[in-house]
Amino acid sequence: MGKIIAIANQKGGVGKTTTAINLSASFGVLEYKTLLVDADPQANATSGVGIEPTTVERGTYEALIGEGDARSLIVGTDTPNLDLMPAHIDLVGAEIELISTEEREHRLAQALAPVVDEYDFIIIDCSPSLGLITVNSLAAADAVLIPVQCEYFALEGLGKLLNTIKIVQDQINPRLSIEGILLTMYDTRLRLANQVVDEVRTHFQDLVLNTIIHRNTRLGEAPSYGESIIMHDASSKGSVNYLNLARELLQRNNLTQIDAGSKPFQAPNN
Ligand SMILES: Nc1ncnc2c1ncn2[C@@H]1O[C@H](COP(=O)(O)OP(=O)(O)OP(=O)(O)O)[C@@H](O)[C@H]1O
Ligand SMILES: [Mg+2]
Repeated sequence: MGKIIAIANQKGGVGKTTTAINLSASFGVLEYKTLLVDADPQANATSGVGIEPTTVERGTYEALIGEGDARSLIVGTDTPNLDLMPAHIDLVGAEIELISTEEREHRLAQALAPVVDEYDFIIIDCSPSLGLITVNSLAAADAVLIPVQCEYFALEGLGKLLNTIKIVQDQINPRLSIEGILLTMYDTRLRLANQVVDEVRTHFQDLVLNTIIHRNTRLGEAPSYGESIIMHDASSKGSVNYLNLARELLQRNNLTQIDAGSKPFQAPNN
């Protein structure tokens, strides 16, 4: 049965989508069958793996409102072993439409249930809100991964997020755990970045993942090509960081890397 990991933080622009895309792609190239679920009406994860959101007819919106089975809402991507449940702008309507539906917090979990066994990992990219779509994502998930940007006010809002996670654990999904806090956009030139790393580690200790994602221009530009960093520039620091993150999570989940080292992934020349 696949592990469902929601990438969440209601603070905007902290690297949720970048992490969702590139962690999913890393699992894929390491030969773990992965589904990326775009649960954000901004549809950045959808465009980030090369699918133009305006061409999307069915996806996460239909999953949430119960129109069609999950398999019919999933498409393949150019990245090996990576499928996508896409988003389009209509998803924003689900936030309101869900309010009056039964079992409104459980719609995504119910929709994903038939396909969970077909994947090793299901990664959900959440929007910067703690609304009903994000609650659905936390209700469906086994674990939540929290990206935290290495900047001023990094910890701002984290208490609110942890409180929401606690409420979901108590009332909706007792199996939800915290996969870890991921430090992102680390800039070696800034003393402040080190202070943030120290502060977050002091506060959250073992919850903080060892892998740190550095600020890397290739990571910033890859989405405009509709490519994960591994397809865009496999040798970049961003690619190395996200592959290391995938390996760390495999290790934390007691999964060994399939065929480690025997089949190095070759990115296509571009
Ligand atoms: N490690 C990085 N190095 C350089 N640029 C990055 C890095 N991580 C993210 N970015 C860029 O920072 C911006 C915000 O990142 P991203 O979209 O992943 O954040 P987000 O948390 O998903 O935002 P939102 O809350 O709007 O959904 C994007 O332009 C992205 O390309
Ligand atoms: Mg995003």
